[in-house]
Amino acid sequence: MATEENTPPQEKREFPPLNKWLWMVAGVIGVAGILFGYDQGVIAGALKGIQNDLHVSDTVLSVITSWVTLGALVGALVAGTMADRFGRKSALLFAGALFAVGAVVEGVAPGTVVLVIGRLTVGFAVGVASVAAPLYAAEMAPARLRGRYVSGYQLGITFGIFIAYLVAQLLDAADWRWMLGLSGIVGVLLIIAIVPLPDTPRWFVKRGRHDDAVKALAKVDDTGDPAATLEHLEEDIKADAQASWGEVFSARWRAPLMIGIGLAVFQQITGINAIIYYANNIFEAAGFHSFESQTEATTWAIGAVNVVATLIAVKYVDRVGRKPLLLTGLVGMGVSLLVVGFAFQDIADNPDATGTTTAGIVTLIALIVYITSFAFSLGPVVWTMINEIYPRQVRGRMVSIATAFNWFAAFVVAQLFLDVTNAIGESGTFWIFAGFCLLAFLWIWRYVPETKDRTLEEIQAMFSKRFDDSEQEKKDAAGGAS
Ligand code: BGC
Repeated sequence: MATEENTPPQEKREFPPLNKWLWMVAGVIGVAGILFGYDQGVIAGALKGIQNDLHVSDTVLSVITSWVTLGALVGALVAGTMADRFGRKSALLFAGALFAVGAVVEGVAPGTVVLVIGRLTVGFAVGVASVAAPLYAAEMAPARLRGRYVSGYQLGITFGIFIAYLVAQLLDAADWRWMLGLSGIVGVLLIIAIVPLPDTPRWFVKRGRHDDAVKALAKVDDTGDPAATLEHLEEDIKADAQASWGEVFSARWRAPLMIGIGLAVFQQITGINAIIYYANNIFEAAGFHSFESQTEATTWAIGAVNVVATLIAVKYVDRVGRKPLLLTGLVGMGVSLLVVGFAFQDIADNPDATGTTTAGIVTLIALIVYITSFAFSLGPVVWTMINEIYPRQVRGRMVSIATAFNWFAAFVVAQLFLDVTNAIGESGTFWIFAGFCLLAFLWIWRYVPETKDRTLEEIQAMFSKRFDDSEQEKKDAAGGAS
């Protein structure tokens, strides 16, 4: 996925109206985001019913929650090859169909094993879609719109989480099969959204199907010059082909590779999905005793706030700059996690308190601050930066490596959260997340460069120059020493 390539900053904010085809592409990216988000959010509402019906331990509950990310990790890794060989469109059709099947399996699962198989299946489908959908949108959208499509994806994710929370709120805890099974509809919607659309011009060119490429270009870039775009695409594809895996890991590109991986991992280990998945459990521990009051707090304080704050972020991300957003967001996240930790200490000290306590209300407010801070910083900015810091020749592979690290970190957090909470308590767990916020702050402040208003080529040249300068320094130091 790429952002607004080669677009001078002053032209970035002029957006001519989208034609019918571009709206349909936006629809695909939106539905793919909802697919991702629904799947992330639904488990918060389903956990209680699963526990009541299947009587599973906390460790098994963590497996049911987190193995979806394991499936997604594998899906993301194979998605690139799949999208290259069979096309972006076929990969998305496959993801939609597999997701629908997995959702039905989850819904009818007679026991834990089949349920986990269903979770792995939908996870795999989400992983494929998480690479193929942004890739499809980035290749379909004219350069000037790419940034918007990346943010649109994050918006889709938050909307999907919100819908899942809302469904859980409307249903009863015992209806967990419906909560999981209903997500199949989103898979079917993805199929319906993509069927009328062609594959991307870039993929057609790669496969030597020039006529199809011209036809696809005429649809999505009706104001542009298809012949010139086609020529540009061919040059680009030649450059892509020259890059080897050696180059991906070469010393010259180590800095951007590490920055992408670092951002992807910090996005997860600062706690976002522990809160997205286990929101109801957290509110229960904070004194929200009935299932209704928990799902209500989760739907509005976490789900709706996440959507609204992301909407605001999408509007300002290009104006304020990536780094100030990341750093400010991390301060908000870190401080609110510290507060949540203290509130839980108070809750642990007063086990006999009944009804909604001050500590419970403090937790609710602090979590709203946390979600807002995440939604304007690490949520959208990490995905934007991962897709803009890499040189063209190695971008696809570096993006999929960073995405896989993101899923892996999500897996570790979801898998360990309940066990760590049981071992050291809620307070300690939230303070660990707060500690990671501090680490992320220092690391981003020291190593991550600002990329706002720079073209992809300028970003690439900046990393190249840094590398050349540091090599020169090393040579000078060696020369001085001898
Ligand atoms: C993250 C997801 C998270 C979501 C929450 C995304 O940027 O990658 O893991 O669930 O934000 O809004």
